[in-house]
Amino acid sequence: MNQKKLVGDEAATFVEDNMTVGLGTGSTAEYMVKAVAKRVKEEGLQLTCVSTSTVTEKLAKDLGLNVKNLAEVGTIDLTIDGADEISPDYQGIKGGGGALLFEKIVATNSKKNIWIADATKLVDTLGAFPLPVEVVPFGSEHLFATFSKKGYQPSYRLDAEGNKFKTDAGHFIIDLHLEKIEEPKKLAQALKNEVGVVEHGLFIDIVDQVIVSNEDGEIEIFHAK
Ligand code: 5RP
Repeated sequence: MNQKKLVGDEAATFVEDNMTVGLGTGSTAEYMVKAVAKRVKEEGLQLTCVSTSTVTEKLAKDLGLNVKNLAEVGTIDLTIDGADEISPDYQGIKGGGGALLFEKIVATNSKKNIWIADATKLVDTLGAFPLPVEVVPFGSEHLFATFSKKGYQPSYRLDAEGNKFKTDAGHFIIDLHLEKIEEPKKLAQALKNEVGVVEHGLFIDIVDQVIVSNEDGEIEIFHAK
């Protein structure tokens, strides 16, 4: 049972003709992009898409979707994206794929956000998944030391060659191994207050709807707002 494909296909049914659609990043979002492209081909939908990463942009363009820069579009009608962890009050950690900054920019410029995930992403408390923090390379070692002192257990994200991973915007990612985030809003604010932090992977009060599939292939849709 391919749970990621199930939720990707389901989410694509929420796309309507003439919409501007934000396309998320990651292995689950990939299925959604393919399902949206299939609908465009089969039903002749007229869509304008914006992407949350260079990887998704390439996939979407290869599949024939009409992808524009964010600057070229007005409000985005609907953004569909994956998530790394989702709490019972629908706060989330995103950025496992390193696209958190563009994902958050697209999400916060969208009228509606849908997250798609398999049921393993639903957690009681956020934090077992390392929290990505996107930082400016200049002086990031000092920020790393600050995070260490605060007990955040930081580690630089590395690429396949063992070099510091660079985001699409040219920043580094420091992953925080927090185990449990008791107060996500407080932590989100504290991280934003650190000079050199560009963005963090806590997505607070952003999602409207969550589509989840369990091991039996049953789909559940939760309404966060
Ligand atoms: C990328 C993301 C992804 O949406 C998140 O990591 C989930 O990915 P996947 O669907 O591959 O599990 O936030 O930055």
